[in-house]
Amino acid sequence: MDKLVINGSRPLHGEVEISGMKNAVLPILYATIIANDVCVIDNVPPIGDIRATLRILVAMGAKVTQLGETSVQIDTRGVRQGTSPDELVATLRGSTYLLGAELARYCRAHVGVSGGCLLGARPIDMHMYGFRKLGAQVHDDGSFVSAEAPNGLHGAKIVFDKVSVGATCNMLLAACTAEGETVIDNAAREPHVVDLAGFLNTCGAQIKGAGTSTIKIKGVPLLHGCHYEVIPDMIEAGTYMAAAAATGGEVTLRGVIPKHMETVTEKLREMGITVVEHNDTDSITVIGKPTFRSARIETQAYPGFPTDMHPQFAALFSIAQGASAITEHVWPNRFRYTEELKKMGAAITVENNCAFFVNVMKLRGARVIATDLRAGAALVIAALAAEGQTEIVSVDNIRRGYVDIVGKLRSLGADIALVEE
Ligand code: UD1
Repeated sequence: MDKLVINGSRPLHGEVEISGMKNAVLPILYATIIANDVCVIDNVPPIGDIRATLRILVAMGAKVTQLGETSVQIDTRGVRQGTSPDELVATLRGSTYLLGAELARYCRAHVGVSGGCLLGARPIDMHMYGFRKLGAQVHDDGSFVSAEAPNGLHGAKIVFDKVSVGATCNMLLAACTAEGETVIDNAAREPHVVDLAGFLNTCGAQIKGAGTSTIKIKGVPLLHGCHYEVIPDMIEAGTYMAAAAATGGEVTLRGVIPKHMETVTEKLREMGITVVEHNDTDSITVIGKPTFRSARIETQAYPGFPTDMHPQFAALFSIAQGASAITEHVWPNRFRYTEELKKMGAAITVENNCAFFVNVMKLRGARVIATDLRAGAALVIAALAAEGQTEIVSVDNIRRGYVDIVGKLRSLGADIALVEE
């Protein structure tokens, strides 16, 4: 068991390169099944969730060749339907995408129940509704989800009653080889949805409107392999922006898309932090201050404030001047990290889906648990700003989603080490 040991109160300074986006790569990896061919994907972050997903593909018969640290070749011609290993599927939320991918290629799917971060109930009723509209019979017995479309999938109008990234991505996967046209209304507009559509289109799909709330998919009989580069990770970028702000440092993020960061950028500016966007060089500079103002956030689907940035901002709100609040609309129970921040001296009250913060001048080091991926990121930020030494355990939860967080933070001057317990 490893733990992170961080000695805080050191402003971060320097430049950091942002890696490829986990939440874009995951559906793209499953989409390679539909291509039934050889795909080369660049900017794939070497992190736990991606390694586990590649292991699922290999277990299903894919040939995976690492071409470089962040470049992967995947040959899915040997993939056999319904052969995903249940124990791996159960560790990842992204494995839900196997349903859409298997349906598109084989008109049938059989996948164990998926897992992932413990953020409360993670229903898939909207995915099931969409598959049914496309002509599949779907059955969920609590352990496995099975789907079958004996007469093939056919295009349909799918109207979602709320915005779901997962359900939108699964419809892109399932509908790209369905007969006729599919229209998704109230689709998620997240950059990772756009990236999945970009990948599928490069493989020969005909998807229009990704990035808007109406997506049109004209079914094509077959996809083919392609070479594709994944977008940068807006949540990793946001995490380093928050870390720079929390420590009063000055950090330039390289390889980002400033447009994707707008809500985070605006919130930091509202708090008195300087953020400079360099669109010509795909970079952003965050210039922190010794003190900064409180704020309120409400998480929403993109382009609203991302739920995956909420815990990192909770770390900032713990030391902002004045009273702050977070209302969580996507995962109303995503507050387990608050107990850990309180061990570091934060003053937080949680009521239903809201957290209220009263500022404390300084956090202090403590032994805390990374209860999930973004909770872990919040604790790292809090520890970087805190006085004294913090030990963070359950580090695997952080490594699931952050590439070399120790190396990147050290290059910015942080006193951080991964230590075996
Ligand atoms: C969501 C986030 C995504 C984030 C990820 C992990 C949004 C819109 N989505 O994506 O940004 O990276 O969590 O934190 O911000 N829902 C249903 N039925 C369904 C599917 C979803 O009721 O069939 C609900 C969920 O309970 C949730 C909301 O819809 O309240 C959004 O879920 P969804 O976008 O599908 O979740 P993820 O794809 O995991």
